[in-house]
Amino acid sequence: MTNAHTIWAKIASALLFVALTLSPPAAMSQQTHWRADYFPNVTLTDQNDRQLRFYDDIIRGKIVSINFIYTSCTDICPLDTAQLRRVQQMLGDRVGRDIHMYSISVDPANDTPATLRRFMRSYDIGPGWTFLTGSREDVDLLQRRLGISPIEPGARLSEHDTSIVVGNETTGQWIRRSAYENPTLLANLLTSRLQNHAPNAGERQSYAVAGQVTDTSPGAYLYRTRCRSCHTIGEGDRLGPDLAGVTASRPAAWLERWIREPDVMLAEGDPTATAMLPRYRNLPMPNLGLSHQDVDAVMTYLRAQDAARARPTGHQ
Ligand code: HEC
Repeated sequence: MTNAHTIWAKIASALLFVALTLSPPAAMSQQTHWRADYFPNVTLTDQNDRQLRFYDDIIRGKIVSINFIYTSCTDICPLDTAQLRRVQQMLGDRVGRDIHMYSISVDPANDTPATLRRFMRSYDIGPGWTFLTGSREDVDLLQRRLGISPIEPGARLSEHDTSIVVGNETTGQWIRRSAYENPTLLANLLTSRLQNHAPNAGERQSYAVAGQVTDTSPGAYLYRTRCRSCHTIGEGDRLGPDLAGVTASRPAAWLERWIREPDVMLAEGDPTATAMLPRYRNLPMPNLGLSHQDVDAVMTYLRAQDAARARPTGHQ
C-alpha cells in the first residue's frame, strides 16, 4: 500500500514536471494523450449537495486551484484556506468566471455538505470557490493523480498534504505550491503564467511587489508566511483582528502563549479569547506549530512594528 502510494506520487510528480518543462505547444500535444484518461471522473458532492464529476464538471477546460482540507483542522490547514481567500480577493470576479477554486475534504465522514457550508461562512468565502467531499478512496486517487500524498493508512488527518495545486487543464500545465506561498504569486500564476499569455504591465508590477522583501528577519518571515493572510498591522481586520498596537494592549505573557497555542487557550475557556471568537465569525485562530523561539521572533517583529508606527514620522 505504502509503496504503491509512493510510486503513484512519483509518477504524478514526474508528469507535473514534464508538463512544466515542455514548451507550451509540445506540452499540449503531449498532454492530450493522457489528459482525459489520466484524471479520474469520480463523483464528488459540493457544499450545496450537487454531484459533480471531477474531470467533466470540475477541471475540464478550466484554470483551477485545488487543495485538500478538513474542516475540523486547527493547525496548518486553516492557513491554506486563509491564503487562498487572499488569492480569491485579489482575483475578484474572475473567480468563478475564468478561474475556479476547489477545496476537497479528506475527512468525508465528518465533512458533510452542511459542515462545508458552515466552514465557508466562518471563512467568509465568496462565490466561485467550491468545497467538495467524496469517498476516501476517490479522494486518495485524486490526490495521487495531482502529485499530492494521500494520508497513509492509520495516520492522523492533521498529517495530510497541505500543498495547493494550480493548473490549466487545457494546456496540461500543473504546478504544486506550499501553504506558505505568497498569495500574490499564486494569484499571478493563475492569471498570467497559466493563462498562456505574456503578463500585462499590471501583472508584471505585482510580481515586482511580491518579490519586494524589505525585512528579512526571522520574525518578519514568520509573520509574512504564517500570519499575514489573516492579519494586517494597521490596515484593518482580515479574517482575524488588525494587530496594530496589540503588543501594548495585551500582556506579553498572554500574547506569547496565544501565538503559540491559541487552541489550548480556547479549550481552557480563556476569557479574552472566548470573548474575541464570536467577533470573528467563530473562526478560531489556528495553532501554527510555532516553537518558543519562533514566537519570540514574531513578538520582536510585532513590537518593532508598533514602535515604528508610534514614531511621529511614521517611518517603517
Ligand atoms: C487562519 C487565520 C489566522 C492565522 C493564520 C493567524 N491568525 Fe491570529 N487570529 C485569527 C482570528 C480569527 C483571531 C480572533 C478570533 C479568535 O479568538 O481566535 C485571531 C487573533 C489573534 C490575536 C489576538 C488579537 C487581539 O486583539 O488580542 C493575535 C495577537 C494574533 N491573532 C496573532 C497572530 C499571529 C502572530 C499569527 C501568525 C503567527 C496569527 N495570528 C495567525 C486568525 C488567524
